[in-house]
Amino acid sequence: MEIIKSGLALGAEVKGMDLSKDLSSQEVDQINKAWDENLVLVFKNQNLTDPDLIKFSKNFGNLDHPAPNPFGINFSPEYPEINVISNVKKEGKPTGILGDGEATWHSDMSYQDVPPKAGILYSLEVPKDQGDTHFANMIAAYEDMPEDLKNRIEGKILIHDSAHNSAGQLRKGYEEVSDPSKTPGAKHPIVFKDPNTGKKSLFIGRRPYAYVIGLELSESEKLLDDIWAHATQKKYTWTQRWQANELLMWKNLFVLHKRDAFDPNTRRVMHRTQVTGEMKISA
Ligand code: OGA
Ligand code: MN
Repeated sequence: MEIIKSGLALGAEVKGMDLSKDLSSQEVDQINKAWDENLVLVFKNQNLTDPDLIKFSKNFGNLDHPAPNPFGINFSPEYPEINVISNVKKEGKPTGILGDGEATWHSDMSYQDVPPKAGILYSLEVPKDQGDTHFANMIAAYEDMPEDLKNRIEGKILIHDSAHNSAGQLRKGYEEVSDPSKTPGAKHPIVFKDPNTGKKSLFIGRRPYAYVIGLELSESEKLLDDIWAHATQKKYTWTQRWQANELLMWKNLFVLHKRDAFDPNTRRVMHRTQVTGEMKISA
């Protein structure tokens, strides 16, 4: 196994592994170590079936079943741990979530009291040079934060919107709220301390409909704009430019991710698993 760091704020490629094979506990330990250090790992040139992807993913914890999507369709009835991210339509109906538009910066399902530990994406079909996925390192962004902004977020709790998905669509069973202080969703400290490493990280979920508890709405909006402007600077990011047959895994509590829009006349199909969260976000 060889770990090739991106040289940027996060991200590494792992070479020399065939993920369709069973991993030894030593190999899992090596992957976990590289994952802690780099937050996002990519394995290229893989050839994985859905059962392979599920088996690989289970090395890192229990797997969640996908959250209800806006269409009310189960996209992978045979393998309930698999979610499908796809713009492809069959007989006019979607075969997966997120379409072809931009998915703006977010952590997955941060609106849960115990958010998922990780997302694992495997690319089956991708358009050429489009639909990139970007990641941002929230440990680096916190470490590097100007003192005055650190002071402004000290002890603050954020509401994480549960009503909309990362494509901005309203989830089934939710209503639009016009006042973000009434947003439904979990409340988490903005600054999170990882009990395993002692490192602090920003945990900011997604920008739309967020609200900092205890502030006037206008103050909350200003503070959030300042946090987001800082946290998503290019110097904290790294970009995955997809080829087919790549597996990518990210630490959902310590990175944000976003996906670019792509040409609707192309096909982009990803299968995805999600590792269940193991801890509450605590300061
Ligand atoms: C996700 C997600 C981005 C992508 O799976 O959580 O945001 O590149 N996907 O498809
Ligand atoms: Mn996501």
